[in-house]
Amino acid sequence: MTYPVDMNVKPVISAHFDEATNTISYIVRDPSSTHCAIIDSVMDIDYAAGRITYDHADALIEEIKTQGLTLDWIIETHVHADHLSAAPYIQEKLGGKIGVGEKIMVVQETFGKVFNEGTEFQRDGSQFDALFKDGDTYSVGNMQGFAMYTPGHTPACMVHVLGNAAFAGDTLFMPDGGSARADFPGGDAGQLYDSIQKVLSLPDDMRLFMCHDYGPNGRAIEWETTVAEQKANNIHVGGGKTREEFIKFRTERDAQLDMPKLIIPSLQVNMRAGEIPTDQDGNPMLKVPINGL
Ligand SMILES: [Fe+2]
Repeated sequence: MTYPVDMNVKPVISAHFDEATNTISYIVRDPSSTHCAIIDSVMDIDYAAGRITYDHADALIEEIKTQGLTLDWIIETHVHADHLSAAPYIQEKLGGKIGVGEKIMVVQETFGKVFNEGTEFQRDGSQFDALFKDGDTYSVGNMQGFAMYTPGHTPACMVHVLGNAAFAGDTLFMPDGGSARADFPGGDAGQLYDSIQKVLSLPDDMRLFMCHDYGPNGRAIEWETTVAEQKANNIHVGGGKTREEFIKFRTERDAQLDMPKLIIPSLQVNMRAGEIPTDQDGNPMLKVPINGL
């Protein structure tokens, strides 16, 4: 697959860090118009209380309104397991199309079973406005974006590239953070390695924006790096680490990781494009499958 890379387009990027989930949401603006996209928004949840709020999403909305921008796309790099998407809330306020990788259907099939969803839960991706295939392009004003299929962390992961900026989702973390886990249902460490190589085949000076940062070893939170920096210094894949080395390391590491705190609510909401499921009376309600994950 040859991707339509255009390093001459330099989008204006605004990052919003969510302290509760260590997620970075982005507003990506076309430098030649007033159009923009949001990548990976966050809806706030106090899971212990079952309470949903929208402070993080409201900050994105406020910034877009203040700058007089038009929101073309609300993109999910994948079905996140550690935070809830605010895509429908943002769409209601600002418009824009919600897009995700077409392999969302595999994720919906898998977790539709885990959460024992009834037939009313469609497993065809129809909750989203657009399903991207590898290499699909889309417009944000005059700027072209494209999706790269990068499975491994999940079967539906996509990296999105707009001009000289690539949004890595959960393929890579910052060089000192390494890579995302590959042990969720449908994850695969070998596939993740191959996907990371795809990202690293982008131009060396491609700006890379992370979906998460945990500030390893006490450093301040960061989210931007480059392909060249990742190739040289990434602790899991940099310096020419082999596929076999990566698979062994990743598999051993993943076996020691606890489930993300918000995986149960996140999956149920995010596999529905950010809509909260309802019970038979139409009340917003989440399930907890026992020993299901
Ligand atoms: Fe993730």
